[in-house]
Amino acid sequence: MTKDKKLTTSWGAPVGDNQNSITAGSRGPTLIQDVHLLEKLAHFNRERVPERVVHAKGAGAHGYFEVTNDVTKYTKAKFLSAVGKRTPLFVRFSTVAGENGSADSVRDPRGFAVKFYTEDGNYDLVGNNTPVFFIRDAIKFPDFIHTQKRHPQTHLKNPNAVWDFWSLSPESLHQVTILMSDRGIPATYRHMHGFGSHTFKWVNEDGDGVWIKYHFKTEQGIKNLTEEVGTRIAGENPDYHTEDLFNAIENGDFPAWKVYVQIMPLEDADSYRFDPFDVTKTWSQKDYPLVEVGRMVLDKNPENYFAEVEQATFSPGTLVPGIDVSPDKMLQGRLFAYADAHRYRVGANHNALPINRPKNEVNNYQRDGQMRFDHNGGGSTYYEPNSLNGPSESPEDKQAGFPVTGVAESVSYDHNDHYTQAGDLYRLLSKDERKRLVKNIVGAMEPVESEEIKLRQIGHFYKADPEYGTRIAEGLGLKVPAEVK
Ligand code: HEM
Repeated sequence: MTKDKKLTTSWGAPVGDNQNSITAGSRGPTLIQDVHLLEKLAHFNRERVPERVVHAKGAGAHGYFEVTNDVTKYTKAKFLSAVGKRTPLFVRFSTVAGENGSADSVRDPRGFAVKFYTEDGNYDLVGNNTPVFFIRDAIKFPDFIHTQKRHPQTHLKNPNAVWDFWSLSPESLHQVTILMSDRGIPATYRHMHGFGSHTFKWVNEDGDGVWIKYHFKTEQGIKNLTEEVGTRIAGENPDYHTEDLFNAIENGDFPAWKVYVQIMPLEDADSYRFDPFDVTKTWSQKDYPLVEVGRMVLDKNPENYFAEVEQATFSPGTLVPGIDVSPDKMLQGRLFAYADAHRYRVGANHNALPINRPKNEVNNYQRDGQMRFDHNGGGSTYYEPNSLNGPSESPEDKQAGFPVTGVAESVSYDHNDHYTQAGDLYRLLSKDERKRLVKNIVGAMEPVESEEIKLRQIGHFYKADPEYGTRIAEGLGLKVPAEVK
């Protein structure tokens, strides 16, 4: 057999024997002088980076975004500056609670993370397939995730913790209802919508802003799996969604999403009927209709899973001029959490890796650090300000200012109506959809050992809609607590 290329060590030297280690005589022992063997074993030991603490199981794809509507009166973001303009992007879909090898077809929100490689730097939209979230203050996130992960002793998933936390955090009710509905198990990553979930701010060339929420509508149509089918597939093919996305793209069946925003004038935030920065709520589309922005198409599979999907780092703080954050308390916490996770999981220079590196030129004074594998700025100016014509700030790209009032203290959102939107959603469902919702919830709550937890949660369902609470209570063989009636 002739080979074009010689096998080499990582330092480029040809390898004489890759089948037999160097031993003292044919029987051994093995000699420490076999540095090729040592390097091979040692590198293998270091093949894994820590998995993401949440959203560990995922699949990614490359594609592009194309602007289909003029939104320049709302944002100066360059990638949105002209109809027809295309921007390359990378997407990662994921489940939330499972580990890297866990099954795809489980009941869980799906991550929907998009990295736009714009000419003004990267823009990451790190959303989910649901428009709302379980909690609305970052301070509750580690506790919430503990309940979704494994028990510290048994290393098993723990329904007691899940429902204890939810029943004591009634702001979760809207998202719990979505999760337990048909949409809780998408048929594939292609058959689900995506949402930015938080409120963001768009700012135009004149410095005028609006609040916005993103909606990505699947062109493949919404399709879901029932609990039974999801469970069966989880056993038969745990990588079902990963495989589906890869094969669809490989076969030229490129999935696409239409992208819209809801737009709220800044001043409405003070008078809207609930706090528009509360991520447990949706804005009514009657009040703020969808405005078309563009279309996202995924047309290329990654060439290497680890290099592109595992090492991809998405952060809600990766923003470009024309797009700012809002005071949403969850979003504010996420601005810290993601970049911190990336420095820990991938390293201080994660943004220099090919999948994360912006496609435009990066000019800054950051130098050195572990795994600095690029030219590290060579001999160029390494401090600022300088009189050496080094890269300098551009005041036109400064964030627009915003007014702040109030007392600095630990305080909840003013609006504590956790029930109206969950109840509206319940009332919107068809008879069959309600039946499956109740069945899914009863099935999920049955293993909860504490009657107190069950009754507390039934009370929340009842407050959202008396029929909703009554049916869950009946399903569990309990009565709605008198005090909530
Ligand atoms: C992943 C924290 C809320 C969507 C992650 C990661 C962390 C994290 C640490 C792993 C990042 C990595 O290792 O690369 C938090 C915190 C939250 C929060 C502290 C609340 C304060 C949310 C919300 C959404 C969301 C509300 C959606 C609207 C995602 C997605 C990923 C992720 C999609 C996976 C990104 C990827 O594919 O690499 N989150 N999260 N998270 N989070 Fe969150």
